Amino acid sequence: MVSQNFMAKKSNLTPSFSYVQKVGIIGAGLMGLEIAALNARNHFSVQIFDSNSAMLRTVHKRLKEELADIEDENQLQEMLDLVETGTLEELADCDLIIEAVVEKFEVKAALYETFKPFLRPNMIFTTNTSTIPIEKLSEVFPLPRNFAGFHFLHPVWNRELVEVIPSTRTSEAVLQRLSDYSLSLEKTPLCVCDCPGFVVNRLLQPYLNEALDFLLKGVSMESIEKAAVNFGMTWGPLRIMDEIGFDTVMNAGKTMLNAYADRVKVSPILLTMVKKKMLGRKAGGGFYLWGKDWRENVHSHDFQPEGFNPAAQEVIDYWKKTDETKYSLNEIGHQLAMAMADEAERILNDDVVSEQGQVDMAAVIGLAFPESKRGPLAWKYREMEKK
Ligand code: NAI
Repeated sequence: MVSQNFMAKKSNLTPSFSYVQKVGIIGAGLMGLEIAALNARNHFSVQIFDSNSAMLRTVHKRLKEELADIEDENQLQEMLDLVETGTLEELADCDLIIEAVVEKFEVKAALYETFKPFLRPNMIFTTNTSTIPIEKLSEVFPLPRNFAGFHFLHPVWNRELVEVIPSTRTSEAVLQRLSDYSLSLEKTPLCVCDCPGFVVNRLLQPYLNEALDFLLKGVSMESIEKAAVNFGMTWGPLRIMDEIGFDTVMNAGKTMLNAYADRVKVSPILLTMVKKKMLGRKAGGGFYLWGKDWRENVHSHDFQPEGFNPAAQEVIDYWKKTDETKYSLNEIGHQLAMAMADEAERILNDDVVSEQGQVDMAAVIGLAFPESKRGPLAWKYREMEKK
């Protein structure tokens, strides 16, 4: 395990000075598209590929949603022109590849094998996986010293953090270049040690789990969301699941369950939502309903849901074990945050990062944990002092 942990300072790198000039993105779904937009905003050329031609066809339309804040039409056109769609082979002249295909080991492994003929000795290849250990992926990647985890967070435009995760075979030069490149995208790189879920998804998983558990205990969707927002979170945990996509939450959850079986639970509510294709915002409905214009707004930054989804309520009613709602909003908010804080402590004890400040910072700039509370661990320790 590479033990180096650092948070690089911001620099004035511009693409013209950086190692990376052209970025290849594999997977034009939610994250691939957001990462493409981020690169175009920062003047990098992007070549993007998706095995689903329908996803490729809509790249420029979706980029326009993602870049809707750019008022100057020429500027917007320049950004759109920087992004080209095409075949996998056309990624061969990229300096850096960001793989953002579905969160399944077998799919990623098969893709790495297919990509083998297009790899060059100087090409950096990264994966945006949320949870799959980088060591495991690097074992099936043909050029492991050039391979690393590079985890952007959703929504990319509004999350300053990017996790950089080496395997034992990733070269130091690759880590440094990824760090420099992150800064030129105005993101803060946090180099963390490899483990399932890294830092951000280890923090997120128990928080989402706790929310699903509250639903089973008969607490209403509204109370859960209100409690989290009252605590200071921008989005409640149910909204977060809608935004991420229930298929991705479930696939990531499987890796987490394998790794942390003592504390990760499988919620029948989540499984039923996926089975019924209620995948969240990208499908028009999850815990929330996204209105009749949802298709045109999957990437719009300020688009808001219409309200809670009655079909999700039916799923919850079917599975919930009790009608009791004996929890106050304060208790719900406290319990949700404590689930995250307890995991933050384990992350620190497992040496995934070297300092408390890093895990707190990851929660604040990676998950929008309230800045006023200075991160889950800082908050937990203050809570303990009160007792
Ligand atoms: P998504 O389901 O929106 O998009 C995945 C895309 O990959 C689809 O367009 C699909 O057609 C394409 N694809 C599947 N197999 C492929 C292949 N062999 N070659 C090329 N394209 C292929 O998923 P999303 O949410 O964009 O997730 C992508 C990755 O990013 C996953 O590893 C996920 O864990 C990670 N991630 C997701 C976040 C989220 O909030 N959704 C946040 C951070 C990371």
